[in-house]
Amino acid sequence: MPSGKNPIWFLTQNTNKFREASSILVPFNVRLRRLNRAKVELQDPSPESIARFALVSALKNQTRPILVEDSGLFIESLHGFPGPYSSFVYDTIGLEGILDVLRRERTRKAYFQSTVAFGSQSIKPRLFTGIVTGRISKTIVGKTGFGYDPIFIPDGSTKTFGETSLSFKNVKSHRARAFQRFARWFVTSSAR
Ligand code: IMP
Repeated sequence: MPSGKNPIWFLTQNTNKFREASSILVPFNVRLRRLNRAKVELQDPSPESIARFALVSALKNQTRPILVEDSGLFIESLHGFPGPYSSFVYDTIGLEGILDVLRRERTRKAYFQSTVAFGSQSIKPRLFTGIVTGRISKTIVGKTGFGYDPIFIPDGSTKTFGETSLSFKNVKSHRARAFQRFARWFVTSSAR
């Protein structure tokens, strides 16, 4: 059973995100249930605004406590692109397309951001953000994870997230940082 009086429902159609988030929350004894529906996506450069809007929209027809996450890859030399368009860009030009665009760029610095929004009819929306900085690799390496993991090398590592285990990624990924922040607040709050 999920911890506390109320289960938390993670609104996501992304199985990988759900798996990562559930595993990050295990040490906090916070368990998620999945609400497998599309979130309403605001067109906005800010993950915080996108996550808040998706949460508020979901709460219009849900009485249960809801959590949504917005995440993306922000590449410095491309002024933050693909950012809020990360999902679309992955589905269209893909990893090869990103590597191609970066071929002539001097810096390959990038970061992932995850913003978690949590709330219910009685708990006003709260946001928790996590970032992991790193760089884009020159080639696609590794098969673990999802999305841009095979081209993202976190600072302090020589391997892409696509070459490492879920437990490695979950130590310091953007998602780990955002969900840990959420969990630290949640376990001491009256929302539990
Ligand atoms: P959204 O948060 O559902 O809008 O999706 C953001 C997109 O960013 C995902 O579909 C992935 O392509 C990418 N993304 C987000 N987090 C990660 C991650 O942890 N690893 C790799 N790609 C990610």
